[in-house]
Amino acid sequence: MQSDIHHSDNNDAKETTESSQLATSFSGPSRLARRSFLRNLGLGAALLVPGAALLSESAKARDLGKKNNKALTRGDVAILQLLAAAELIEADLWQQYTELGGVDAPTTGYTAGLQILDGDQLQYISDNTDDELSHAAFLNAYLKSKGEQQVDLSQFKNLAPSQVSFVPQTGRLTNLKQLTVDTSWWTRYRSTTNPDFGATFPNAVPSLNTGQHTAIPRSNAELDDPNNPSDHIKAIAFTAGFHFGFIEQGGTSLYATLAQKVTSLEVLRILISIGGSEIMHFQTWQDKAGNATPLTDFDPINNSSVTFEDLATGQPETLQSNLIMPEPCEFISPSLPACAIIRPSGPGQLDATGAINSFISDGLFVGQSAQFLQLIKSLARAADAAERQTD
Ligand SMILES: [Fe+2]
Ligand SMILES: [Fe+2]
Repeated sequence: MQSDIHHSDNNDAKETTESSQLATSFSGPSRLARRSFLRNLGLGAALLVPGAALLSESAKARDLGKKNNKALTRGDVAILQLLAAAELIEADLWQQYTELGGVDAPTTGYTAGLQILDGDQLQYISDNTDDELSHAAFLNAYLKSKGEQQVDLSQFKNLAPSQVSFVPQTGRLTNLKQLTVDTSWWTRYRSTTNPDFGATFPNAVPSLNTGQHTAIPRSNAELDDPNNPSDHIKAIAFTAGFHFGFIEQGGTSLYATLAQKVTSLEVLRILISIGGSEIMHFQTWQDKAGNATPLTDFDPINNSSVTFEDLATGQPETLQSNLIMPEPCEFISPSLPACAIIRPSGPGQLDATGAINSFISDGLFVGQSAQFLQLIKSLARAADAAERQTD
């Protein structure tokens, strides 16, 4: 995105141009074939359906078209732009996980470590990556279709990737080598209390929440033997396993929080539908992270150590690994019965600013420019300032 997001004064004119451009880009031969097929079907149907019904159907279609072309409110645009930025950030980090731990990654000690968490872990990593790429592409295309400014963060892709030889040596937006992973989402979803009422939660893996840790192997020397992975590469894979849950619980709450501020029903549909897929990701990862096997490892590069405990046996309910369904907790009012929900979803938690701040505390942007941080913080502030308009 250009740092100066500006909006067209002449939305209608811009919208027409942009939608015709969009239409042009989609009009390949298969689309033409489908269009003529539909036209033929329409002609056939005219022989069977009374004229009045046909007219009213086309009037309805015209109305729907008008509604879809209605300009978005400033608030809805700000929300969609912040989400597009968040999805580009997610796509960047998931891409790095896929290169080293996806289904097409070479077999290494890292993929072996990831597969301790689940035999299908590599497939899930690739699929989560595809989903994030689709979220970012869709949100930007939707903004464009409404004549609004898209988000492009490519100028900030300057961080060094892993030096592992099969990783493309291109600049990245996010840093996965110096993370401080907040694992309190684990205990939060196993608790009967809710952060929206001020509750706080201990970390499931306290050592991940202090110092810096890498979630990807940084060089060939760390890749290790896939048939007998060392505790060091297993610790890196398990760090990734808990980081996956951290990222996707953030998306889960971010969409639920921002959905309460949108004005357009179509934008609401986008938020609850993409948000639902973030929830599916989160649920998958929180099922897998608990399969980490007990170990302690010291990382000489970050000068930090990490300890994973066995969460599968002998743990209290706030840590027990198979308690992956959201424990019912207080919601809306403490006088109402406890309810199984995603949380938090109130302001000042994982709203736009909260989510971006949690990415910053996570270390994802260690090494990023002040200009980048300023841009995403201002996008977050604009999204949080959005207000639902009812008339
Ligand atoms: Fe996403
Ligand atoms: Fe996500």
